[in-house]
Amino acid sequence: MKHLVSAADLDRAQAITLLDTAAEMSAVSERDVKKLPALRGKTVVNLFYEDSTRTRVSFEVAEKRLSADVINVSAKGSSVSKGESLKDTVQTLAAISADVIVMRHNASGAAHTLANSDWFAGSVINAGDGTHEHPTQALLDAFTLRERLFGKAIGKGLDGVNVAVVGDIAHSRVARSNLILLKTLGANVHLIAPPTLLPKGLASKAVSAYNNFDTAIEDQSFDAVMMLRIQSERMQAAFFPSESEYSKLWGLNRERYQRMGKETLIMHPGPMNRGLEIDSFCADHPNSTVLDQVRNGVSARMAVLYHLAGTERNA
Ligand code: CP
Repeated sequence: MKHLVSAADLDRAQAITLLDTAAEMSAVSERDVKKLPALRGKTVVNLFYEDSTRTRVSFEVAEKRLSADVINVSAKGSSVSKGESLKDTVQTLAAISADVIVMRHNASGAAHTLANSDWFAGSVINAGDGTHEHPTQALLDAFTLRERLFGKAIGKGLDGVNVAVVGDIAHSRVARSNLILLKTLGANVHLIAPPTLLPKGLASKAVSAYNNFDTAIEDQSFDAVMMLRIQSERMQAAFFPSESEYSKLWGLNRERYQRMGKETLIMHPGPMNRGLEIDSFCADHPNSTVLDQVRNGVSARMAVLYHLAGTERNA
């Protein structure tokens, strides 16, 4: 494997290997000296055309824990804001001998374009492209699920695990990558969203699809409910009548969560719109994995970097 552009790049064995490596990386992060030499001598560039907190910071921590030389480039503050093209920016990074580019871009397909270009000979990791995919988010979500449900579970997938993905599915790269990876690992994915935010092409790939959250709760027993952020910045039109109506019908709140009737895990990729898709009772609940997901983001990204570019592994 040279690049990670889509969750579909991973077959079941590769996905489980990455989860197992993430478990090992997690142990490294608990040591006093949180360092491995795996990327010593390698230069990793984090090229971010879109804002990010969790992904950017956890990639940088992961790269530093693997001893890489790290360079951060964001659109704001670089020559991208002067209109420089992706090709020219990437060729500039290639000229300074970058080995890996971790890229977040507002355009769906940008990571695919870069990985299939002759502008850059190194590895490309998609850190989120438009509404398309966010494969390392799906990996850290799968790792979090496996760990919380089954403990260390080395070598295991997520067979038979019921996961509800709820909310703004139409604009969510997290939903697209999770739908692919969770299925690869054997989980059952259920999609829940207003009709305007649930594309038919995605609904047909899920085990079930609902426009009514309460009906879904009556019908199914969920091991985890993954709430999605309402992505107002990507909406060119009104997709629901009002925020209060959305929150009432499709938000996860105390009363709705308690009707789920078991220790359902509460997931959210962040950043959360508290009071819109999730209330504080659920966001801060002991069954919420929100901060585990952030912590596991470092381990999952260390695993991806290690398998794509680790000098020890290549040797
Ligand atoms: N989950 C996620 O991608 O968060 P950031 O936008 O903060 O990176």
